[in-house]
Amino acid sequence: MLEQIRTNPIVASMVLAAVLPITALAQGADPAVQLPEGEPKAFIEGACVACHRLDYLPNARGFTEDGWRALISTMIALPDDLENSVVGYLAEHFPKKPGTDPVLVPGPVEVTISEWLAPTLGSRPHDPAPAADGSIWWAGQYANRIGHVDTATGKTREFPLEIPNSGPHGLVEDGNGDVWFTGNYEAYLGKLDPRTGDVTDYSLPEGVHHPHTPIVDDEGTVWFTTMSGHVGRVDPATEEMKISAAPTDGAFPYGIAINTRGEPWYVDFWGNRLGSVDPVSGEITEYEMPHANSRPRRIALTPDDAVWYTDFPRGYLGRFDPKSGEYREWLSPSGESSQPYGIATIGNVVWYVESFPRPNVLVRFDTETETFQSWPIPSGGGVVRNMMATADGKLVLACSAVNRVALVEIGT
Ligand code: HEC
Repeated sequence: MLEQIRTNPIVASMVLAAVLPITALAQGADPAVQLPEGEPKAFIEGACVACHRLDYLPNARGFTEDGWRALISTMIALPDDLENSVVGYLAEHFPKKPGTDPVLVPGPVEVTISEWLAPTLGSRPHDPAPAADGSIWWAGQYANRIGHVDTATGKTREFPLEIPNSGPHGLVEDGNGDVWFTGNYEAYLGKLDPRTGDVTDYSLPEGVHHPHTPIVDDEGTVWFTTMSGHVGRVDPATEEMKISAAPTDGAFPYGIAINTRGEPWYVDFWGNRLGSVDPVSGEITEYEMPHANSRPRRIALTPDDAVWYTDFPRGYLGRFDPKSGEYREWLSPSGESSQPYGIATIGNVVWYVESFPRPNVLVRFDTETETFQSWPIPSGGGVVRNMMATADGKLVLACSAVNRVALVEIGT
């Protein structure tokens, strides 16, 4: 185990809800993409590459005119005439593709899904985090800001970050009400105090970069995964950072969750592996999965400490029992291409999202009866990359490409 210790807090200030230009990296036009002729072609080639490449158009699932209108209005505000021209062009040349509808499974449970649009268009809410007061935090990755919505009033706020283009990715609220986030592009962990707006930044040690998903354990320790093959932690009392390396080179610890014994478990998105971390020594143990092409992306645990994961490229929901070493799996209702992604548990019920279909689908899996039920996400979801359960049995979702966060209230 590699263990490095470093503390480097830098206090940054915050500007409350300031209107700043988008700081996402301009990707530039993609020369490989030749758009069909048409009136708004030149405009699209110029304006739609501010945040991503043009190959998003041919690669998209395609939409109807209404679908395109709803989607692009979450990224760019256009005058009516221009919007009509762009939407008409997109619907004609990039219509909805076959095979992109979800397979929905009816059932007895009722859910209410409420959604809120982030104030900064095209901000790519990557991850959501529930706040203790019932509100929702999100990481606006492309807009370099942390967002917040009061779900009772619908009032939104954004906290622009001082470090430019830092790519806030995952976030979590700790017991003091501070919000820890990963500055994915700039290799730091940030702690936002929403009362004062101050942000404390903790740089990662050399060789450790692209911090990914943070989580807080019962002791208040903040654990986080990194794309450089590490799991780190910060002790909030001492502000000491410790880093553990995964045994396998090229590992990518992605989603992370803490079990009832205080052990962090993660999924490795670049291999067919799960990992667990000894909370005292920091030592990482890896567990190989039976299918070589499994790429588990997100993780959630049930009260029996069983590990549930979304096997993104294979389209399966999986379960690993650390006690017996047994793996089980279930094909997701929309099939092998469903791209199951964000996942959370509430008691013995597993919830996750199928991120390939348009709309994305919220799936419920009852682990006792082994039955599925599913619902379309009203905004389309636009790839729900992460979801988390609230303390009172609801779910919060980040709907990345449609620039929204969602709250799911569950009836019976
Ligand atoms: C302000 C930033 C911004 C601008 C400008 C922008 N987009 Fe996007 N767009 C996004 C973000 C963020 C996503 C989600 C990207 C991701 O998750 O990979 C996205 C995703 C998409 C997708 C994929 C949607 C899906 O369901 O998967 C399409 C298609 C798209 N954009 C088309 C456009 C078009 C057409 C324009 C110009 C009219 C445009 N975008 C302008 C930010 C922007």
